[in-house]
Amino acid sequence: MTANRQQSEAWNGSESVHYVDHADRYDLQLAPFTDALLGRVQLEQQDSVLDVGCGCGATTIAAARRARTALGADISAPLLEVAAGRAFSASIHNAEFVVADAQTHDFAHEAFDLVISQFGLMFFDNAGTAFANLRRALTPGGRIAFVTWRGLEVNEWVSVVGRAVAQHVALPDLGGQAGGPGMFALKDPDETTALLDGAGLTQIEIEPISPTILLGGGGTLDESVQFLLEMGIVRGLLGRLEPEARAAAIESVRGELAQRYESGVGIRLGTGALLVSARK
Ligand SMILES: C[S@@+](CC[C@H](N)C(=O)[O-])C[C@H]1O[C@@H](n2cnc3c(N)ncnc32)[C@H](O)[C@@H]1O
Repeated sequence: MTANRQQSEAWNGSESVHYVDHADRYDLQLAPFTDALLGRVQLEQQDSVLDVGCGCGATTIAAARRARTALGADISAPLLEVAAGRAFSASIHNAEFVVADAQTHDFAHEAFDLVISQFGLMFFDNAGTAFANLRRALTPGGRIAFVTWRGLEVNEWVSVVGRAVAQHVALPDLGGQAGGPGMFALKDPDETTALLDGAGLTQIEIEPISPTILLGGGGTLDESVQFLLEMGIVRGLLGRLEPEARAAAIESVRGELAQRYESGVGIRLGTGALLVSARK
């Protein structure tokens, strides 16, 4: 059953295309967060892991290499097809993938030592219901750990576009309301603590992390700028502008990024995220 119909449509449609086409580039871009997340959880060989909103499966496969089993769950069939293909190519036999709305899916109860997620828990209509559902899937004493974005202002890779768009129209709410859904839905540590506490989780720890990302994993200036312009959040922002204003905004973003280009490497931009962990 899908409670999050709008998210399901987006992640099976427009949002999925860029991820499917550039899965490896997304992995490189997000590698600092994968390292932080897996570094925090310290997986052990007997662990059974559930990776929620696993997308193209990089974190599921990384977990499967360290743990007994890993199940990647995602609402997007096209992304999971990539994930399953990657696991097959890498001869990973202890990873499985399931199309599931994590808010409502009937995961096996008390079956997972660990639930992880890399930017996959901000898209629920009812976040309280979703976290309670994930708690049910954890073994007693099991852990949940995830990364989630802080606000737009500390995420240069969005704010550089946000500033250019704001010259022409007011910026939309990008999921800044408690509970979301949207990429900034869990940006507030106090609200997230209350949410996890309300779902029956304990030992809640929230650590701000601010790695830089290499846009699109690096490349030429044109490749890097193009990658940013095609990302879902950026397309959404630019799509609010009339053609002339859009062209002006793109020009101003390109100008700013050109100054940041490191020859032969790419464009490094600042981020702000939260590394959250809790226990059942
Ligand atoms: C920003 S992407 C992150 C993907 C992946 N974890 C990564 O790091 O590349 C968010 C993911 O959450 C998934 N998602 C959104 N809503 C979901 C839901 N209700 N249940 C399960 N997955 C969901 C999307 O399909 C998408 O793959």
